[in-house]
Amino acid sequence: MKKLIIMGLLAFSFVSLGILTTGCTTQREIAAQKSGAELWAQNCIRCHNIPSPPSYTDVEWETIGLHMEMRANMTSEQITKIVEFLQAAN
Ligand code: HEC
Repeated sequence: MKKLIIMGLLAFSFVSLGILTTGCTTQREIAAQKSGAELWAQNCIRCHNIPSPPSYTDVEWETIGLHMEMRANMTSEQITKIVEFLQAAN
C-alpha cells in the first residue's frame, strides 16, 4: 500500500514535470520525458486491450516487456519505464 502511494506521487510528479516543461521543449524531448504510466497508456493499447498491472507478476512483466519491445518497436529505455511502472503498480 505504501509502495502504491509512493508510486502514485512519483507518477504525479512526472506528469506535472511534463506539463510544466511542455511550453519550451521540442516534441522529441517531450517524448523522452514521458513517464512509464504515460508510455503504457499510449502505446500498449495500439494492438490489444491495455493489460492492467495486476494481470501479471513482476517476473512475467520483465518477459512481456522484452516480447513487446520487439512487437511494438519501442526503445529499451521506454520499455524499462513501462515495466518499472507495471511492477510498482501491481
Ligand atoms: C505492435 C503491436 C503491439 C503493441 C504496440 C503491444 N503489443 Fe502486446 N501483444 C501483441 C501481440 C500480437 C500479442 C499476442 C501474440 C504474441 O504473444 O506475440 C501481444 C500479447 C501481449 C500480452 C500477452 C502475453 C504475451 O507475452 O504474449 C501482454 C501482457 C502484452 N502483449 C502486453 C503489452 C504491453 C505492456 C505493451 C506496451 C509496452 C504492448 N503489449 C504493446 C502486439 C502488441
